[in-house]
Amino acid sequence: MQKVDILKIGGFLPEAEASLTRQFNVHTLNEGQDKAAFLKDIAPRIVGIAGGSGRSAISAEVIDSLPNLKIVAGFGVGYDDIDAGHAASRNIIVTNTPGVLDEEVADTALSLLLGTIRRIPQADKFLRSGQWLKGSFPLTATLRDRKAGIVGLGRIGKAIAKRLQAFGVSVCYHGRNRQQGIEFPYYPSIRELAEAVDILITIIPGGKETYHAVNADVLKALGPNGIFVNVARGTVVDEQALILALKNGDILAAGLDVFEKEPEVPPELIALDNVVLTPHVGSATVHTRNAMGQLVVDNLSAFFSGEPPLTPVPETPWRG
Ligand code: NAP
Ligand code: 8YV
Repeated sequence: MQKVDILKIGGFLPEAEASLTRQFNVHTLNEGQDKAAFLKDIAPRIVGIAGGSGRSAISAEVIDSLPNLKIVAGFGVGYDDIDAGHAASRNIIVTNTPGVLDEEVADTALSLLLGTIRRIPQADKFLRSGQWLKGSFPLTATLRDRKAGIVGLGRIGKAIAKRLQAFGVSVCYHGRNRQQGIEFPYYPSIRELAEAVDILITIIPGGKETYHAVNADVLKALGPNGIFVNVARGTVVDEQALILALKNGDILAAGLDVFEKEPEVPPELIALDNVVLTPHVGSATVHTRNAMGQLVVDNLSAFFSGEPPLTPVPETPWRG
């Protein structure tokens, strides 16, 4: 394979980084760097993009600034930050990293759920601040006798369902389609699902189609004993409506890994005691980030060796 020029946006762990550098001429665009100035001389040579963690959006503008671009290999299964439709219109392939992070993200979802119901971070704070010396930590809500609704029973949603079943929690789901061969009850709308359960977990793609899919109405339907967990994208929930629902007691508590304007999190959310917040760490282990990085590299290697990309997104115009 001839060494072609790749633009790397965001960081990779050393193994994937070394693998990239071995196979490609890598140009690294660091966060906050002036894109136009960086690309001025090299843009015509760039034929691929390797998206790394902490990446910035690969917009139509970025794509159009690279006249010979052929492939964008995104780091992450969600690719709402890559304009895949625009890439397709220019016959540019987009790949993502499905499958290799399912178990990790499902673990994160269950950690958030349990941490939120049993108030684990609050209990930790209670102990550290010496309050245990003055009395016991207040009793909490329980996972027992709850029903969970999964919004998005895809690869990760199914891994979450498996874990919930092991905990004795019954599962139902919503998606655009009822799935063949799935025994869990299906609800045709998120509102109906929320009404039927007291745990709502979102794990759908971000983007226009799912923008504010969880709104005040859905949260009201979830009810005052309801727990909301979001490991999908911040944009799938109306954050202001969520803050209000948490303040008013329309729902009991929320566990959130993702936010509308990351890394900014509204101070009103941070001030609440009935939330557990994590900084988008769903897949953030060395093991899984290595696997994701390797899949980015493998997609690029396959494509530039004349083979099909391994994991093209559905919008991609791959013609073999
Ligand atoms: P997937 O296998 O494609 O599953 C997505 C599921 O969402 C499918 O079951 C799909 O079912 C449903 N869905 C898609 N569009 C929908 C819509 N408009 N309304 C309702 N349901 C919809 O994807 P995955 O690998 O499980 O990943 C899911 C998402 O998780 C990613 O896109 C990403 O945003 C997020 N994620 C977050 C983290 C994190 O760090 N927090 C890590 C990884 C992934 P239908 O086709 O039947 O609608
Ligand atoms: C990101 C994720 O990849 O895969 C996804 O969709 O949200 C994460 O695993 C991670 O945030 C990279 O920055």
